[in-house]
Amino acid sequence: MPTPLFEVKNLKKFFPIYRGLLNRQIGEVRAVDDVSFVIHEREIVGIVGESGCGKSTTARTAIRLLEPTSGEVYFLGRNFLSLKGKALTLHRQKIQMVFQDPLASLNPRKTILDNIGEALLYHKLIATKQEQIDHVCEILKQVGLPISSLKQYPHQFSGGQQQRISIGRAIAMKPKLIILDEAVSALDLSVQAQILNLLYSLKEKLGLSYLFISHDLSVIRCLCDRILVMYQGKIVEEQPTEKLFTSPQHPYTKQLLNSLPNNLWEQQKPAQRLSKLDKSGYLTNG
Ligand SMILES: Nc1ncnc2c1ncn2[C@@H]1O[C@H](COP(=O)(O)OP(=O)(O)O)[C@@H](O)[C@H]1O
Ligand SMILES: [Mg+2]
Repeated sequence: MPTPLFEVKNLKKFFPIYRGLLNRQIGEVRAVDDVSFVIHEREIVGIVGESGCGKSTTARTAIRLLEPTSGEVYFLGRNFLSLKGKALTLHRQKIQMVFQDPLASLNPRKTILDNIGEALLYHKLIATKQEQIDHVCEILKQVGLPISSLKQYPHQFSGGQQQRISIGRAIAMKPKLIILDEAVSALDLSVQAQILNLLYSLKEKLGLSYLFISHDLSVIRCLCDRILVMYQGKIVEEQPTEKLFTSPQHPYTKQLLNSLPNNLWEQQKPAQRLSKLDKSGYLTNG
């Protein structure tokens, strides 16, 4: 096996609980409790589990948006937790995040050109204004938005289009890994499908890896190569996608599978879904 792109070993994140007049610590929430996993190049790994089980905290802690209680993280063969200064900035740029609510992460006062382009200047991926415009135009094309979006503001777009902008901002940084935290959870089913298709084709074209977090197993199934099932801060099961559906091991996984509605998504195999939806992957009305 080649060295994984991203490796998390025995990661823990406990939040203290304080009570009383003296604000004494009376316990802790074990949000992430000894989690280990790897992500290989060009692989899409999913984390599924009910709300509050620790999915977001796992992602945030692994990329140091939160300070881990303990554990190890390796990215591109380097000890990610000990990186400082320039090396940290450089490695951070290679890991991007896309969240559920695009409006919360886009700046409402800035045009799409600036929303996508400012970090490019900051990270010195481009040198001039013209390069910035050219690069952002190229990104807009890749995420299926018209060039006229450049001068528009985030609120002028639909939810699906805003998520395309967030994805565009992430890929503009030339990342190796994108963490998508409930990235399609707020979208209608048809728009979800378009965004999933976009993500899949971008991954193929740009050689990306994803950590795809969702509480929705049918969405996870559609996109992921491998699935981690999370329950109360722990990974209770890890399987290649189809295997998880044909032979789930853990009682909690079985419960998740049983709770799936018997709709169209479940009746089709993921490959069929993706190829069927491919044609609409670049629709701009999402
Ligand atoms: N900053 C925080 N302080 C205290 N507890 C937190 C904090 N962030 C998350 N938690 C708790 O950690 C647990 C996991 O939360 P989270 O990672 O957001 O779950 P998920 O993303 O799976 O819905 C929850 O019990 C949540 O209340
Ligand atoms: Mg979450």
